[in-house]
Amino acid sequence: MTYTLITGASGGIGLALARQLAAQKHNLILVARNAEKLTQLSQQLQADYGVRVEGIAANLARPEAAQHIYRETQQHHWDVDLLVNNAGVGSGGEFVSLSLQSELELLQLNTASLVALTHLFLQPMQERRSGTIINVASMTAFMPVPYMATYAASKAFVRSFTEALTQECQPHGIDVLLFAPGLTKTNFNEAAGINNEKAAGLNSDYTTAPAQTPEEVAEELIHAWRAKKPVHIAGRRNRLGARLLACLPNAMIARYVARTYQQKLAHH
Ligand SMILES: NC(=O)c1ccc[n+]([C@@H]2O[C@H](COP(=O)([O-])OP(=O)(O)OC[C@H]3O[C@@H](n4cnc5c(N)ncnc54)[C@H](OP(=O)(O)O)[C@@H]3O)[C@@H](O)[C@H]2O)c1
Repeated sequence: MTYTLITGASGGIGLALARQLAAQKHNLILVARNAEKLTQLSQQLQADYGVRVEGIAANLARPEAAQHIYRETQQHHWDVDLLVNNAGVGSGGEFVSLSLQSELELLQLNTASLVALTHLFLQPMQERRSGTIINVASMTAFMPVPYMATYAASKAFVRSFTEALTQECQPHGIDVLLFAPGLTKTNFNEAAGINNEKAAGLNSDYTTAPAQTPEEVAEELIHAWRAKKPVHIAGRRNRLGARLLACLPNAMIARYVARTYQQKLAHH
């Protein structure tokens, strides 16, 4: 039986995606840390849509988590034909003042675990000569972001890694796609410890800056998957923004972002 595996499926974009794919009759494997939430959600989606939904509780900020997830799927003979590496965490504020431990865990979750899951699930996909991997980046993948330096760098990694693998995997009949959301109304800021003040400085305050809903973003992801778009930026406004950013030198963008943050925080 084939499944779609979604990491970070218990909330935000991952949860919206799980609901929409279940409604479209896809069997799901949901990954997140909170086991209780996963059990509830699996039962609810199974009852609502009559599909098979499995949960694997795992902390992808730990290096051994990807292997654990892969082993579980192998043991139960759950064939993953679509892997969505969506789980991710942010961080915001002056780099030197942030906890080194949590910056390193961010890198493990946003980059190393994503690489590990991609590596593990690519092998059976190659044998079957079919499958899709979608890596969720961010608009920050396209620019350096002072006061969000590690997060933006992790997403730039995801972008570069994914765009390279797209080409490597094409001859094997496997699609590796990059999906980049912009500001989306989820629990992202709270999970990252980004308070209202910092969010305002980073232009990432959902209550004032234009943001998409997770449902809109999930819908675009599904559309990009079906259209096999190698790179898709969610939201028309974000796509325009990305085009503009591509014309500007990185140093200029970084200077502007840093000044905005410094000025906004000085006024608080
Ligand atoms: N929201 C935005 O504005 C925005 C913009 C651009 C890109 N993105 C990207 O979109 C993706 C989804 O973000 P979101 O906004 O939906 O975030 P969210 O609302 O905070 O949801 C994050 C999901 O990931 C899970 N998760 C967090 N840490 C984990 C860990 N260590 N191991 C396993 N699962 C973990 C959470 O569940 P548990 O807490 O139960 O583990 C939850 O299901 C991320 O990659 C993010 O970088 C978001």
